[in-house]
Amino acid sequence: MQDLAGKVMAITGGAAGIGLAVARTWLAGGGRAVLLDFSADAIDAALSDLGEQARGVHADVGSAESVDAAYASIEAIEGRLDAVVNCAGQSKPGPTATLSDADWDALVNVHLSGTMRSSRAAYRLLKQGGGAIVNLSSISASHGMPGRASYCAVKAGIEGLTRELAVEWAPDGIRVNAVAPGYTLTALVAKLIAQGAYEPEPVIKRIPLNRMAQPEEIARPIVFLASDDASFITGSVLTIDGGMSVEGNWYR
Ligand SMILES: NC(=O)c1ccc[n+]([C@@H]2O[C@H](COP(=O)([O-])OP(=O)(O)OC[C@H]3O[C@@H](n4cnc5c(N)ncnc54)[C@H](O)[C@@H]3O)[C@@H](O)[C@H]2O)c1
Repeated sequence: MQDLAGKVMAITGGAAGIGLAVARTWLAGGGRAVLLDFSADAIDAALSDLGEQARGVHADVGSAESVDAAYASIEAIEGRLDAVVNCAGQSKPGPTATLSDADWDALVNVHLSGTMRSSRAAYRLLKQGGGAIVNLSSISASHGMPGRASYCAVKAGIEGLTRELAVEWAPDGIRVNAVAPGYTLTALVAKLIAQGAYEPEPVIKRIPLNRMAQPEEIARPIVFLASDDASFITGSVLTIDGGMSVEGNWYR
């Protein structure tokens, strides 16, 4: 991997799960990381073992004011920005027939509008040195998953936004890509399993690699896409799902 010394990455939702694994991977390459997260406790816990090259900003991607203030602090303190990973997210499965407007709007606001807000706020800083954005989609963007209307819709929307920004900001030297992870063992997934949203065994049976991913296995390709190693890749969506979405062994 290329030397990331001095390069600054902002990670929304960076205090836990995939975002935290991205921070660790970026720091291991010599870069600096700014975690933008709405959980102050999670930021404190994350920073306690990330070391001096990491900093946390209490930010809610659901609010333009909060996101703009977070990037203003990066401009004031780090003075540069090389990469953004839009990772903040939540999930609240339930039947669509009884889905409230409030629950629908909440997920759209955090995932889709949050990704747009963070990218918009980062644009001016990224443009200065030619940077990269990596958005978090999901295999839910291309599969009909019952009880996940808002989640499937926002992830498909994030892929559309990724392609649009890739083309609009290419003249500014900004690359924009997305990853579409499959099942990854983070707090988000552990919570869904604990709530009885699904049993893990039938899911794992459909994954050719026969297990869920560890967060680091999603983080490494994200850091690749965010770095100059991926200098000619823009507008792409990289699926990272252990083969789940191409599985065609329907006879077992
Ligand atoms: N875990 C999976 O299996 C999986 C699969 C595909 C895609 N994803 C996507 O990856 C991303 C990260 O998921 P994860 O599993 O690491 O989740 P996680 O719950 O482990 O971590 C999410 C982080 O986002 C933060 N966050 C949530 N809402 C926020 C907001 N409004 N503003 C700022 N921070 C906020 C949380 O505090 C937390 O630190 C999400 O976009 C998710 O949809 C996850």
